[in-house]
Amino acid sequence: MEDQAEKLREIMRQKKDATGETGSKPAVKPQEKSSDKSRGNERVQSSSSARGGRQARIITVTSGKGGVGKTNLSVNMALAFARMGKKVVVMDADLGLANVNVMLNIIPKYSLYHVIKKQKRIREILVETEYGISIVAGASGFSQIANMGEDERQEFINELDTLSNADIIIIDTGAGVSINVLDFIATADDAVIITTPEPTAITDAYGIIKIIASEYDTLNMGFKLVVNRAKGAAEARGVADRLIKIAGQFLNLKVDYLGFIYDDPAVSQAVLRQKPFIVHDPKCKASLSVQHLVERIDKNKPIETAGFGSMLKNFFNRSQRD
Ligand SMILES: Nc1ncnc2c1ncn2[C@@H]1O[C@H](COP(=O)(O)OP(=O)(O)OP(=O)(O)O)[C@@H](O)[C@H]1O
Ligand SMILES: [Mg+2]
Repeated sequence: MEDQAEKLREIMRQKKDATGETGSKPAVKPQEKSSDKSRGNERVQSSSSARGGRQARIITVTSGKGGVGKTNLSVNMALAFARMGKKVVVMDADLGLANVNVMLNIIPKYSLYHVIKKQKRIREILVETEYGISIVAGASGFSQIANMGEDERQEFINELDTLSNADIIIIDTGAGVSINVLDFIATADDAVIITTPEPTAITDAYGIIKIIASEYDTLNMGFKLVVNRAKGAAEARGVADRLIKIAGQFLNLKVDYLGFIYDDPAVSQAVLRQKPFIVHDPKCKASLSVQHLVERIDKNKPIETAGFGSMLKNFFNRSQRD
């Protein structure tokens, strides 16, 4: 199996080669990071006034290893937030297969691809689901963002800014990690890292945390660890403790343990029925675990969110400079 961390390092190397960067200079300088609250004040004010004071909290869900439960967590977490009365959008940032809509049995006519191609406005592609959440369908065209010209980019940002009407935006980063996804993770309010108790998943989770920590300023980054498919609290705690300890020891990085999700046959049953498990079986162990996780995230609010528009502005400004 190819080491995920090595793959990411290769992406970073290529990026640096392409931009003429050398050595260990961070890809994102501390003062450029959108979640740097001291620098972000001006933008926070301007973007919040443009949206009538409403600010979206951005949560990315990512993992080192594929198939560990990102899409299930993203979708079911979104539903749990919606049940708390929040307006939630799930954005599928998967560059390949469009997972989120498959899990919800939705065949979207349009995706981000059409927005990038200026064939559609984002509010036209936002799909309201029967579950009270909205989704933005992913597309392989998402990777074309990097190739946009300045005007195109600006228009696209203006489009995406309309998503800021949401209270919560959950970004499912999909399988595999590209440089765009890393930028998303680095600029979000909460970076949820998900692993299973499998040694390979744990190693890859550490790999992705390490690569983010070595390439970005992580001072204000809220890493939150979720252990999926655990047999119980003790097993999950053991996995989390190990990861948190090595992240602290070797990366000097604080990772919070958000909680765990039980390994539960109801999950794959729900996936087969193309329904979120929280709808399929609200009282199953996995559903109760996700509700618990969401309550913990909700209690632990970021001090100040830079907002989705502001995050994207930083993201694109950076891409432009690179
Ligand atoms: N808590 C759980 N209990 C039992 N099975 C689970 C659980 N979580 C995930 N699974 C199984 O793992 C499969 C993959 O989950 P999911 O699609 O959410 O992973 P992913 O990380 O999004 O995958 P990818 O990397 O391909 O995008 C599910 O279809 C389900 O069968
Ligand atoms: Mg997925």
